[in-house]
Amino acid sequence: MPDLSQLRAAAREAREHAYARYSNFTVGAAVETTDGRRFTGANIENASYGLAICAERTAVFAAVLAGAKGIAAVAVTGPDGVTTPPCGACRQVLAEFGAPDVPLSYARADGSWADTTLGELLPAAFNPNSLEAARGIA
Ligand code: THU
Repeated sequence: MPDLSQLRAAAREAREHAYARYSNFTVGAAVETTDGRRFTGANIENASYGLAICAERTAVFAAVLAGAKGIAAVAVTGPDGVTTPPCGACRQVLAEFGAPDVPLSYARADGSWADTTLGELLPAAFNPNSLEAARGIA
């Protein structure tokens, strides 16, 4: 069972490393992998604004680069006092590596955490199974 409170603390710590000089909206994320490791990420912006990458994706990509095969839990926090659920692009990336029942905790404006799942955040996701199914058709 993933320890969500540790994961939330790791997301908060990772937020310190955000490079958010254009939006000033710092985000931290932490993922626990199915092999029991933890990886963190923060948003990284760019003078070419559209190249910004979100905290969730830097965390997932760090995990994948370290050889992880799947995600077992996720925590995300934006700036203090701001409710920060994952953006749509990040939901799609999380759905690539995590099952619908994977828990995700995001920080709310009042300092509490909202607990949901990847499946609730992105129902009927287009995922690797969708492409698997197509192979059966051809
Ligand atoms: N951001 C994230 O890191 N994660 C999200 O899920 C929402 C948005 C970042 C991207 C950008 O650097 C800043 O927050 C403002 O959109």
